[in-house]
Order: sequence, then C-alpha cells, then structure tokens
Amino acid sequence: MTAFAPQPPTNDPWLPHLATIRSIENELPLANNTTVFTLELELQPGHYAQNYRFLPGQFNMLYLPGAGEVAISHCGPHESNSALACNDLPQGSFRHTIRAVGRVTNAIAQLKPGDSIGIRGPFGSPWPIEELCGHDVLILAGGLGIAPLRPVIYAIANHRNRFNDVCVLYGSRNPSTILYHKELSSWKKFDIQVETTVDQPQAPPPAQSQPQSPNEQPPKDTLSETIEANTWNQAIGPVTLLLDRRLSRSLYPSFQPANTRVLICGPEIMMHYCAQSARKLGIAPNSIWISMERNMQCGVGYCGHCQWGPFFLCKDGPVLRYDLAEPFLNIKDL
Ligand SMILES: Cc1cc2nc3c(=O)[nH]c(=O)nc-3n(C[C@H](O)[C@H](O)[C@H](O)COP(=O)(O)OP(=O)(O)OC[C@H]3O[C@@H](n4cnc5c(N)ncnc54)[C@H](O)[C@@H]3O)c2cc1C
Ligand code: FES
Repeated sequence: MTAFAPQPPTNDPWLPHLATIRSIENELPLANNTTVFTLELELQPGHYAQNYRFLPGQFNMLYLPGAGEVAISHCGPHESNSALACNDLPQGSFRHTIRAVGRVTNAIAQLKPGDSIGIRGPFGSPWPIEELCGHDVLILAGGLGIAPLRPVIYAIANHRNRFNDVCVLYGSRNPSTILYHKELSSWKKFDIQVETTVDQPQAPPPAQSQPQSPNEQPPKDTLSETIEANTWNQAIGPVTLLLDRRLSRSLYPSFQPANTRVLICGPEIMMHYCAQSARKLGIAPNSIWISMERNMQCGVGYCGHCQWGPFFLCKDGPVLRYDLAEPFLNIKDL
C-alpha cells in the first residue's frame, strides 16, 4: 500500500516495551461527560527506544497489565528518518490522544505522570504524505479523527513549500468538544487554513459558569476565545457542508478538483459521506484516503480480528486509498 512504513524495532512484535508517562494533558476541560487526554510517553532507554520510528497515520498498541491492550494512533509531531519528519520530542518519545470509552481507556485515564505503560508498535500504514507534494490538500476530520491527522499537519507545516493550498475542515459535536482548539488558529501561521463546524452551537454549560449579559462580552477574535466564551460564530452542520461549499466558484475560485488530494479521518459514516461529497466535487477516488479503525488485537496480521473484506486493517490499513476501500464501505455490517 505504501512504499515505506516503519516496523517495530524488534524480532518479537508481541512483547510490550515499557514507556514512562512524562505528561498528561486534559484536552477537553470544557466538555461534560467526555474525558479526552494526551499522554506524552518516553520509551525506556535501550535498543527499542533508539530505533523506534513512526510516520503519521501509524498506531501503537498500549498495554496496561490487568486491564488489557488498545490500539491508539500517533497524534504528535513525529520523529523519523523521513525527509518529512519534524522533531519536537526526543528519540523514543511520542504522544497519544485518548478518549476514555471503556475498560482499558478508562484504566489508562487513571494513570499519573511517572507511571509506566507497555507499548507495541508502530503498526499499520501511514498517510501518503509524499503523494500530497505539489498538490492542494484537504484534510477532513470528525471529532477525535483530528488526532491521527495532527502529525500530517505538522509534517506539511515543516515543509510547507512542497504543498499548494492546504485546508483543514474539522467537524465536532459542539464547541466544547473541539480538540486542540488552541492550536487550530495557530496553523494559519503555516499558511494552513482551518474551517470548523459543529452539530450543536451551544456546548452544555460548564458546572460553575456564570451567565453574562451580551454587552459584558468582549469581542472574540480567535477560535479558542469563541469556544471558551461559548459564543459560536462559525459554521453549523456536518463537515460535508464545508466541503460542499467548494462547489461555489465565487467562494473558492482557485479550487481545482483534479489537483486536490483528500485525507479523511473520523467515524465511518462521516468518512463515507465526505468521500461521496469529494467525488461530487470531481475529486478522483484514487486521490482520497481514509483511516479505518476496527477492533485490533495482535496488530501484526496474525489473529484476523481486524479483517475487513480482503484487508487486515492492522497491516494493510488503517490508512486505505478510497478507490480500494469503497466497494467494502458499501457493504452493510461488514
Ligand atoms: C488503528 C486504530 C487507531 C485508534 N486510535 C485511537 C486514538 O488515537 N485515540 C482513541 O481514543 N482511540 C483510538 N482508537 C480506538 C480505541 O482503540 C478504542 O476506543 C479502544 O480499543 C477502546 O477500548 P476500551 O477497552 O477502553 O473500551 P471497550 O470496553 O473495548 O469498548 C467501549 C466502547 O467503545 C467501542 N469501541 C471499542 N473499540 C472501538 C473502535 N476501534 N472503534 C470504535 N468504537 C470502539 C465499543 O464498541 C464499546 O461501545 C483506535 C482504534 C484503532 C483500531
Ligand atoms: S489485529 Fe490481528 S490480524 Fe489485525
């Protein structure tokens, strides 16, 4: 599927390697009933840490004794030998953004800085960054789907002159669930446009919020301030809305479907509709990539848990080119 995908630097990909939690960041402090946090992890020094490489789109298996193991994508700026690398962490360090949804992720959410966790990886296919060079790039994210795309955005930012127009279209449930919202506005400085939309403009009020009368509210000029003040002034609706706007030649006079490459990550139904919208805009199916997340166990193509049609998503995916994935996306309950 891709020319080069870093592999676990070991003969035994089943064996977890210890990593220490260096920091934990609560990513959605304004959201009720949703715990999403980012771990910065550092592999214990040794051969594995020294030789660990990954590319955006790949994932690790995170193992917590007594709880179990889960697949989690790399979300941080990455470090590798690739010409498209960007280095903001030491060798053998990386970041994962995790939503606490069940047994293992809730147990990981209880860990503290200094605690250890087992790591196997990296596994899976990366986003095709080299194939984006020289093209306009649309990056479509739904909810937590922005996490596996974040390292692509920094890889592009690091080598910005290799890409034409780059735009991130990000849809979230409500303003309080917009991930990395402090960073999103800052991507403008890399000449990366960001358009956001929410299903519901009003976030549920935080527990101790005080109502403000309209004339007490200062004008909000960044996405972050808008979210914190709960005064949403951007698009409302599904992320396809942002994509469909490109049908308007007057709004997007320089949009060229034949020269556009699209990366999509989010819930399966969102990826399905986004890909269909992209197709309607005239973007070729082999210029679109999606990331398919299914239940994974071994991560190395042995157990079959991740089988989806002809693909073992732990090694053929999670990143798949849309023209190859499309026939199977249309099969109900596959
Ligand atoms: C390649 C890959 C990359 C992933 N990257 C991330 C990431 O960066 N951050 C993150 O928070 N999660 C990510 N996930 C999803 C994560 O692996 C699951 O949320 C996790 O396995 C849930 O385990 P649990 O024991 O906490 O919950 P469980 O008790 O196993 O499940 C709790 C609920 O979550 C649902 N669920 C479990 N696994 C998945 C899944 N893969 N997709 C959708 N729903 C699921 C279950 O059906 C159930 O309703 C990724 C999954 C894959 C396959
Ligand atoms: S997770 Fe075992 S084959 Fe993919």
